[in-house]
Amino acid sequence: MNATDSFLSRLATTETGTAAAPALVDLQDVHLSFGDNHVLQGIDVQVRRGEAVTIIGPSGSGKSTILRCITGLLRPQRGSIAVAGTRVDQLRTEAELIALRKRVGFVFQQYNLFPHLSVLENLVIAPTRVVGRDRATAEREARALLQKVRLDHKENAYPGELSGGQQQRVAIARALAMRPELILFDEVTSALDPETVGEVLTVIRDLVRDGMTCVLVTHEMRFAEEVSDQVYFTEAGRIVEHGPAAQIFGNPRSERTREFLQRALGDGARARPAPAHPPLAFNSLRFAL
Ligand SMILES: Nc1ncnc2c1ncn2[C@@H]1O[C@H](COP(=O)(O)OP(=O)(O)OP(=O)(O)O)[C@@H](O)[C@H]1O
Ligand SMILES: [Mg+2]
Repeated sequence: MNATDSFLSRLATTETGTAAAPALVDLQDVHLSFGDNHVLQGIDVQVRRGEAVTIIGPSGSGKSTILRCITGLLRPQRGSIAVAGTRVDQLRTEAELIALRKRVGFVFQQYNLFPHLSVLENLVIAPTRVVGRDRATAEREARALLQKVRLDHKENAYPGELSGGQQQRVAIARALAMRPELILFDEVTSALDPETVGEVLTVIRDLVRDGMTCVLVTHEMRFAEEVSDQVYFTEAGRIVEHGPAAQIFGNPRSERTREFLQRALGDGARARPAPAHPPLAFNSLRFAL
């Protein structure tokens, strides 16, 4: 096939949707042990560009460890991890790992903002110091992001003057300020007062709708059901099952998933109407950030 034919054939398969987009994140047969503790026992996870993928499962099942492998914070003993074609498990130098972390945002339960810097400065510091963006551009983007997380009126405040939910929204904006290709969220609402959980979930919901690729670990099952394209259920370092959110929550194949969801959602959890916005409806609205 010559170059033109090859191009046309690629175009045709894309247009008809028969060619699956390559995964932005691709974990294959990932094994990781801490001493004798075999924490990840053959993990396969794929995340496509623009997807929201949620990992659910009991405490200690390996969810955070999976996220830390994706950012290169932990190196598996076996298996492969690719992020946009970069083999994360093969990165060796600190410079390579830093380059990866510029592309992958990570938001944790603890927001870890710089307490001595204003909200605006928290957003500007990494883009200007780490990637050399000019100050005016960094400030303009920071203000746009603060608007996105509904905190534009707080740019001069210090983290200590904000509620937990507000600080977490600043932390999300700070991750976005690096223009990452994807963001990982590890239980970002777990430390928050119940009243402020909703405002953080709203921000994440908006990001997902805008087409940001997100990998979420959360105990907010209703939220996971609503926003996720794919849900992975982990137990004891294995993926027990994965599938579209509607299938995992509505009709799990594994008895273990069913038991976990019953416990997590409480009795009578299934006797409720379907979410107002089925996840598929979001896809048509998406664009890459
Ligand atoms: N740095 C570490 N050193 C040793 N063991 C660790 C380390 N980090 C995690 N582990 C162990 O790995 C296992 C999986 O931990 P992980 O934090 O991935 O679980 P999790 O699914 O995120 O749990 P949770 O829902 O409680 O956050 C646990 O047995 C944990 O004790
Ligand atoms: Mg965890």
